[in-house]
Amino acid sequence: MADKKKMSVAEILAAARSSDGKGGAASVAPTPAAEPEAAQPAAEETAEKATAGKLKPAAGGARPSVADIMAMARAKKEAGEAPAAKPAAKPATAPAAKSAAAKPTAKPIAAAGAAKTGVQRDTASILAAARAGAKPGPMSKADAPSRPAPKPREAKPVEEKAAPSRTVATLPSKPLKPAKKGEDAEDRRGFLQIALGSAMAVGFSALAVTGGLFSLGLARFLFPNVLAEPPSKFKVGFKDAFPSGKVETKYVPQYGVWVVNGDFQGLQQIYALKTVCTHLGCTPSWLEAEQKFKCPCHGSGFYKDGVNFEGPAPRPLERYSIRVADDGQLEIDKSKTFQEELGQWADPDSYVTV
Ligand code: FES
Repeated sequence: MADKKKMSVAEILAAARSSDGKGGAASVAPTPAAEPEAAQPAAEETAEKATAGKLKPAAGGARPSVADIMAMARAKKEAGEAPAAKPAAKPATAPAAKSAAAKPTAKPIAAAGAAKTGVQRDTASILAAARAGAKPGPMSKADAPSRPAPKPREAKPVEEKAAPSRTVATLPSKPLKPAKKGEDAEDRRGFLQIALGSAMAVGFSALAVTGGLFSLGLARFLFPNVLAEPPSKFKVGFKDAFPSGKVETKYVPQYGVWVVNGDFQGLQQIYALKTVCTHLGCTPSWLEAEQKFKCPCHGSGFYKDGVNFEGPAPRPLERYSIRVADDGQLEIDKSKTFQEELGQWADPDSYVTV
């Protein structure tokens, strides 16, 4: 029977359940593997007893589950299924025949195949054999390499589409249109931007100028005024430039001094008078016609030699130091003064002989 038609797993399990429901191995009579063992009921009973400890069919003939069937098959295997194959070849041996006859339920086909081929097969191998070739369902890892790999898809060549040529059409020139409202708004915005920028530029310029002036004021504060006084020594020229009896007034504005070629106590000499009134410090004037120095403040008068003769001035005018320099010119030194009331006019530094 096994050679003529392969049984599916469902058929195998249904046969096993039906056999269990009928009472055990005695109902598996139709299988050819069970026929030779039918003459030996004693052996079947021995097998039943061997599996009775582990397989307990449901009471009242209830249908066992798949787990029960598998457990029963394993119990039979442990109980001596291996020696059962041998009795298949040697049925005369009593224990082996009993073992072989004790396979009533789950694997009648396997028992028959084992009896024919002499090879023991477990449940997994039986299921794999039933699945192999029947339908392309899931398979084990061992059977996976035998499955043909799917053919890769051939890439279709992409046809290059020629880009459509663009033709640039030359449009006829249109006459200029008058400015629209948007353009007027842009013009106004531009004007405002320019005006604002100009105002900002003016403001920044004013700020920069103010900063510069502030810096100059600060520098001026850091460096205070210094009176630029004329040097105390200066040259007025040679003796020939001062004739006898002459009062030179040209150095008054710059140096505040009269250069006089006059007579003092019977000695002709050149001397330098200080242009400061001895009363309160005003500047007298030389009166050529009157041959005197006259103070405009309180009317004090001084002779050509500087001696006071009128007014509130208490004493004569003062003299500066004068000498002949190395180059022959007359040099006046204002840092040194001479007073007549102190007898200093007799000092040779207070005059130059002619
Ligand atoms: Fe010259 Fe008074 S200041 S007279």
